Amino acid sequence: MKKNTLFSEQLIQRLKEAHLVVALTGAGVSAESGVPTFRGADGLWKQFRAEELATPQAFVKNPQLVWEWYNYRRNLLKKIDPNPGHYALVELEKALASFHLITQNVDGLHTRAGSGKVVELHGNILRNKCFNCQKIYFEPEYNDSSTLPKCSCGGLLRPNVVWFGEMLDQEILDRAYRLSEECQLFFSIGTSSLVYPAAELPYIAKRNKAYIVEINLEKTEISGWVNERIAGKSGEILPQLVESLKCIRMN
Ligand code: OAD
Repeated sequence: MKKNTLFSEQLIQRLKEAHLVVALTGAGVSAESGVPTFRGADGLWKQFRAEELATPQAFVKNPQLVWEWYNYRRNLLKKIDPNPGHYALVELEKALASFHLITQNVDGLHTRAGSGKVVELHGNILRNKCFNCQKIYFEPEYNDSSTLPKCSCGGLLRPNVVWFGEMLDQEILDRAYRLSEECQLFFSIGTSSLVYPAAELPYIAKRNKAYIVEINLEKTEISGWVNERIAGKSGEILPQLVESLKCIRMN
């Protein structure tokens, strides 16, 4: 098998030796499936105003509008599938002794692809949560936005995603911090690294001497200091990484 020159010797060495490998993903990983990213030229936040759609205040003011926006995104997800990048991350989980995936994505595509240990920092768009009593509903409920879904307590249901101005689930965040502290190899994939606290994770990993690899089409906030930057589409690069890993195993 031919050696892949896209990845450095150091990265291959770390893949061989790391006891814990962590990958943090962002919207870029789902872009090749047809899910729009948030920033960049065609990003969702260029076309829509986050403060009207993705805040608790927006929901109180106009729950119908917020539901229209989330139904639009849910319906989009029904028509698309995970891409080779998602599947390559499943392969990495199978091939490595300890591999953990942390995602900022709410689209559930990692789980649909078959990843088992996904830490969903920003929730999951396919689940609902009561705005009043916080009860979680695991089955997605498709509604036409004119009849707003309600909880058994009478409160309005909302999508179970983290909105601007809201705190992340502390237990989930602690798990992400711990994994970032303890890993020896950390991948930052398809994220602009602008939104905190997720954006803090590569810094935590770096402080604890992990080798940091960024896979992204464009330069980001962290590109200047990562150990290795691989420019390109995650759906093309990650499958090659899996091939390289197979190559290591054969040699
Ligand atoms: P962004 O939209 O901010 O960034 C997407 C990144 O993906 C950019 O850096 C692109 O260059 C890169 N990219 C695009 N296509 C790619 C591809 N095929 N392969 C590799 N990289 C690619 O998305 P996030 O960083 O995920 O929050 O945004 C973070 C959070 O901001 C989201 O979780 C969301 C948003 O507001 C919540 O919903 C709470």
